Amino acid sequence: MTSECGDTAWLDTVSIEPMKPDDLDHVLAVERASFPSAWSRESYLRELGSPNSYYFVARRAGTIIGHAGMWNVSDEAHISTLAVHPDCRCRGLGSRLLGHLIAIARHLGLLNITLEVREVNYTARSLYHRFGFEEKGLLRRYYGDTGESAVVMCKTLVPEDRSGRTQ
Ligand SMILES: CC(C)(COP(=O)(O)OP(=O)(O)OC[C@H]1O[C@@H](n2cnc3c(N)ncnc32)[C@H](O)[C@@H]1OP(=O)(O)O)[C@@H](O)C(=O)NCCC(=O)NCCS
Repeated sequence: MTSECGDTAWLDTVSIEPMKPDDLDHVLAVERASFPSAWSRESYLRELGSPNSYYFVARRAGTIIGHAGMWNVSDEAHISTLAVHPDCRCRGLGSRLLGHLIAIARHLGLLNITLEVREVNYTARSLYHRFGFEEKGLLRRYYGDTGESAVVMCKTLVPEDRSGRTQ
């Protein structure tokens, strides 16, 4: 996969699509390669059955190479996952998936978008900062698998006007 990911037009060949149960074999492979504790198939099936969940895959040449998801809780969006296959990182796909979630949240008229990120995950924290997320606090020993702390990050959303443009 690495050799296919290098050219500049690469990102244009990736489509972002709603996640379906049939996608889960590939999603779980990316998940296992990306997190110390991967979500299970059952967890994803529960998420896909929820009316308040929004999950997407990034597909290239028939293969899923990344995914992202969020929940709509009250007037907030909460990002629950964001992952790109290790062979396909640093090419803008994480940014594209994150931008997609933000656009959906804005379209839903939500006011804030929040997330937790491992304190030591400087790559993801830097990505979120670039998209305007601010660090709001630290949840000590938040992650049961490693005992790591989580940084809570939040971004205020600017609503869309009727033409679909952001104000
Ligand atoms: C976080 C993640 C989704 C980013 O995906 P990506 O496709 O590499 O993202 P992008 O190509 O859009 O790059 C985002 C930024 O991270 C930087 N970056 C990505 N991988 C990096 C690496 N291994 N080392 C240093 N910088 C890196 C990019 O240069 C870019 O920097 P910039 O914001 O200054 O431009 C990906 O690293 C990943 O799946 N990590 C494991 C799962 C994870 O931690 N998810 C976040 C949970 S909160």
